[in-house]
Amino acid sequence: MVKLAVVTGGGHGIGRALCRRLARDGARVVVVDIDGEAADTVATEIGGVARQLDVSDEVSIETLVDEVEDQIGPIDMFISNAGVGFGDGPSGAISPEGGMLPVDDRWSISWDVNVMAQVYAARAVIPRMLRRDGGYIINIASAAGLLSQIGDAAYSATKHASVGFTESLAINYGDDGIRVSVVCPQAVATRMIGMADDSNATEGGFNGNEVDGILKAEEVADIIVDQALEGRFMILTHPQVTTYIQRKTGDYDRWIAGMRKFRRSLAK
Ligand SMILES: NC(=O)c1ccc[n+]([C@@H]2O[C@H](COP(=O)([O-])OP(=O)(O)OC[C@H]3O[C@@H](n4cnc5c(N)ncnc54)[C@H](O)[C@@H]3O)[C@@H](O)[C@H]2O)c1
Repeated sequence: MVKLAVVTGGGHGIGRALCRRLARDGARVVVVDIDGEAADTVATEIGGVARQLDVSDEVSIETLVDEVEDQIGPIDMFISNAGVGFGDGPSGAISPEGGMLPVDDRWSISWDVNVMAQVYAARAVIPRMLRRDGGYIINIASAAGLLSQIGDAAYSATKHASVGFTESLAINYGDDGIRVSVVCPQAVATRMIGMADDSNATEGGFNGNEVDGILKAEEVADIIVDQALEGRFMILTHPQVTTYIQRKTGDYDRWIAGMRKFRRSLAK
């Protein structure tokens, strides 16, 4: 049983649903978010503990792990869920311009939050887990880390890096009792795809662009926790992603042609 879990990005969306599910299972949950108010609200609701911090700051992650272990207890499960996506600028994957933030900042923030935050968390918590012969590391990547996110090159590249890093963790530490999972969802009804928190809708999102099979955050959280506890490395919350990966690896060039066609259909 998981007694103590840390969930980053726990203030909203999938992270919040994970906090609720783990608390229902009887775990004490540390809800971490850059949005301190949201973290407080979730922690109050589930009887957990809130911590406001930016996961892309390594010192903050180290301090979090030290404080939680000193003041509350050993962390059984660390879920690096916080993630960002900004979209390409107007000229696509190589855009040097456009959007709310300069494009280089979008690349560096995507890299820091989607990848380095998972590295910092693993560096801080795995040595402690090794000393006590076990623990769970769950990194939330995306189906974009196996396939691609049309319209967001930085998201696609950093989510691929998250999958690659998590594979390394599983290969390195699996023999030492560390259970490692990477989660690769397709669309989930959260603010990230332009839907309201706790949305029950299973269509919409992505500014109205069609996407197959939007799942609710609560459904996704249940699949993640169940499959991680079963010891599964690759958690595919959306079954169709298995087919898409098989198509991609079976004939890469055909897959690229299919994705081009899909992109053209979105542009209409
Ligand atoms: N929603 C989807 O369709 C979808 C699909 C695949 C993967 N994902 C991934 O799932 C994870 C959760 O996304 P979501 O859909 O719940 O989005 P969301 O925007 O609802 O939640 C993300 C949370 O992360 C927090 N956060 C962002 N930057 C942070 C930082 N620097 N430090 C601490 N907290 C930070 C936000 O405040 C927010 O609470 C992300 O890694 C995302 O890439 C989402």
